[in-house]
Amino acid sequence: MFITFEGPEGSGKTTQIRLLVEWLRKHAHDVVLTREPGGTDIGNQIRAVLHDPHNTAMDADAEILLYSADRAQHVAQRIRPALAAGKIVISDRYADSTLAYQGYGRRLDMEALRAITAFATGGLTPDLTLYLDITSEEGLLRKQKGGDEWNRLDAESPEFHQRVRAGYLELVTQEPHRWAVIDGDRSVEEVQAEIRALVQAKLDVGD
Ligand code: TMP
Repeated sequence: MFITFEGPEGSGKTTQIRLLVEWLRKHAHDVVLTREPGGTDIGNQIRAVLHDPHNTAMDADAEILLYSADRAQHVAQRIRPALAAGKIVISDRYADSTLAYQGYGRRLDMEALRAITAFATGGLTPDLTLYLDITSEEGLLRKQKGGDEWNRLDAESPEFHQRVRAGYLELVTQEPHRWAVIDGDRSVEEVQAEIRALVQAKLDVGD
């Protein structure tokens, strides 16, 4: 079972994933928790380059290739071996982030992005993608208040972040069976309860 979380900045993904993983482990599931960029040692080195706010000169094509290099390493070294061992893999972001941020946000050619992504992943697609929805304004505000890492992408224009959110909602309509949209503008407990119910339903079907 391969589950991914997606969402704009400040959507609460990381907190929700942590709670979900605690709950799954309590119920004796073997879970690998990982993230993009940075799910491997090599990926963490790539993440540092990608997110360094000083790297303002980064070319948009170089950016997508760096995210994809991280992803190729992640799939090969971490995700595929864990799935082959029968584990549940939960990733904080995956290929849909590329389509949302580089495709809708930066307006790079979608067909090229899909081809690069298919190459990097070898076609590995999540079984379930949980999208935490929040307006870009609210999300960025939350992120600023929370004192989290402020990365190169966060510094993009409000219009960029609005396109990212609209892009996610468009991706959901293209593959509604894979995605679940969760209203992220509620209490941590309410959001977590919905996530657990969705994951439980998927695990029951998979058993
Ligand atoms: P996060 O780890 O705090 O979610 O930050 C990851 C950032 O990287 C976030 O701004 C989204 C961005 N990103 C992309 O632009 N493309 C990608 O393919 C991925 C995985 C992340």
